[in-house]
Amino acid sequence: MKKPGEVFADASVYDPGIEAIVPRYDELHDAILNAPPHDRSDEIRVLELGAGTGELTAKLLTRFPNSSVRVVDHSDQMLGQAEQKLDTFGDRATLETGAFPDDYPEETGEYDLVVSSLAVHHLDEDQKQELFDAVHESLAPGGWFINGDVVQFDAPHLEALSGDMIENWVRSKGWQEEDFMDEWEASDDYDNPSTLTDQLVWLRESGFDAVTSIWQYYNFAVYGGQKGE
Ligand SMILES: C[S@@+](CC[C@H](N)C(=O)[O-])C[C@H]1O[C@@H](n2cnc3c(N)ncnc32)[C@H](O)[C@@H]1O
Repeated sequence: MKKPGEVFADASVYDPGIEAIVPRYDELHDAILNAPPHDRSDEIRVLELGAGTGELTAKLLTRFPNSSVRVVDHSDQMLGQAEQKLDTFGDRATLETGAFPDDYPEETGEYDLVVSSLAVHHLDEDQKQELFDAVHESLAPGGWFINGDVVQFDAPHLEALSGDMIENWVRSKGWQEEDFMDEWEASDDYDNPSTLTDQLVWLRESGFDAVTSIWQYYNFAVYGGQKGE
């Protein structure tokens, strides 16, 4: 039985698979990494939620060569892939098995940056709000939370448009619908996307300032906010 967010039964196919089924996957990661105000040389302490195979983690550690990242993910098989990929970064990456929001690290004011990509949409509305509270608590003053994720449209025709866009993307990558539909539909059971508007409101309610959307491509968005100084 797959855990929410594993997407594929076999984690070793995740990297090529996710690029084929998430349009502009690298661009979404770029938007997450472009958003924080930090200089590349800053010694930033980062928490990443749902790092999967460590793709965003590796990009972050490369872009910010003095950063360190603590990763929390509930999938041991995804973390197994991440461990291999991140080995080259030594002790700058720490990997932990845990499910948020319940296992969210308890420190207060510890992180300069909390990031996540394609993971938070598995939580229900209450869990998302609980998570946003926990993220705010864990950030140092001035720290940022940036999330890149699947969002829900209120308008059904825009949901349908997003579905069509994804199918066209998959075909443009040389995949056929039957290559991915079983896996994709099975992971749909765990999906719980909220509207971007609701999430921006919840971030405000959790105490974030400068709450904003940064990037959007159909039902994929990058958004976040800053903890006050
Ligand atoms: C679709 S993958 C995204 C991986 C990576 N961030 C990326 O951009 O490719 C979602 C990841 O989030 C993890 N995940 C989903 N819900 C989680 C939760 N509540 N607690 C911990 N990990 C979770 C899954 O195990 C999976 O590794």
